[in-house]
Amino acid sequence: MSKKINTFISGTGSYAPPRILTNFDLEKMVETSNEWIISRTGIKERRIAEDGCAPSDLALEASKIALEEAQLTPDQIDLILLGTVTPDYILPSTACILQDKLKAKNAAVLDIVAACSGFIYGLSIASAFISIDQYKNILVIGVETLSKIVNWKDRNTCVIFGDGAGAAVVSATTEDKGILGTFLFGDGSLANLLHIPVGGAKIPLPKENIDLNEHLIHMQGSEVFKSAVRAMEDAAEHIIQKTGLTPEDVDLLIPHQANIRIIEALAKRLKLPMSKVYVNIDRYGNTSAASVPIALDEARKKGLIKEGSISLLVAFGAGFTWGSAVIKW
Ligand code: UT7
Repeated sequence: MSKKINTFISGTGSYAPPRILTNFDLEKMVETSNEWIISRTGIKERRIAEDGCAPSDLALEASKIALEEAQLTPDQIDLILLGTVTPDYILPSTACILQDKLKAKNAAVLDIVAACSGFIYGLSIASAFISIDQYKNILVIGVETLSKIVNWKDRNTCVIFGDGAGAAVVSATTEDKGILGTFLFGDGSLANLLHIPVGGAKIPLPKENIDLNEHLIHMQGSEVFKSAVRAMEDAAEHIIQKTGLTPEDVDLLIPHQANIRIIEALAKRLKLPMSKVYVNIDRYGNTSAASVPIALDEARKKGLIKEGSISLLVAFGAGFTWGSAVIKW
């Protein structure tokens, strides 16, 4: 009998543009303060892509690092799954642009529009493709340049978002390790709590909408906050149960970095000490789809993920979408 095919992460990489925008810089742009931003969000600074720097450029840097760690060449990648809400173009997908830049000439290409959950959606799809033996190596990416779609006059949103990219190579193995399970969910009835009202095919971009900034992010922050805590708790508990684990088995929680208060509330509900939670929101802000893979890559490179240990990844974002994944290393 043939052995069960498991899916493991053979390499990770991350990249953020070098330009740093601090809370003190923001004090000069909108009515806010370093003290408010830190106490309400935990963010001290975020990275901003220069004009002309596309999401595919950030994704390329993160992907190269992940491929090198996986000891694979780009032509060994069978599929590129790229999570983003800030694509290079509306058409074609950013995965296509990246495929060309990376010279991953044998890869099928697909963008995933699941906002902050995009990377976990990608992991789940990759895991499914590998388990049916359709593909051996899949590059999963989360990348955003949110700075380009944020209203820099709206203090409710412009202080929280940042730019960056994270990548993981997901490969087949018959060893007893890897992605033990994933959970994905969505609720389109709450779409208007975090959205860009115009610019799609329903309402294209007449000038009056641009004057009203309706082509930029609109968010009802406190409503989104409450849903985020509830949904991430639900996603975490669901996957822990589904994989036959208990919260105590989790060695490291890698949550979407949306707000330090959301992360702390989640850890508390899961009864996990903050020493078991990876946090980097202070340095990047909320990078949406890039948030979980950047945190995952940093945690690995810092030696916080040991062989045999269990990591729990959880995300929540616009849509709403949410999801989780449990990985045994
Ligand atoms: O990525 C996935 C989805 N996103 C999230 O999960 C984000 C979830 N939401 C949040 O993180 C928080 O709701 C925010 C950080 C966006 C806002 O924090 P909050 O504690 O929920 O504040 P709030 O929106 O309830 O506003 C409280 C007050 C308001 O003033 P008044 O009406 O009480 O006078 C706001 O106008 O804080 C004011 N405020 C600010 N003050 C200074 C809002 N933004 C700022 C600001 N600086 N940047």
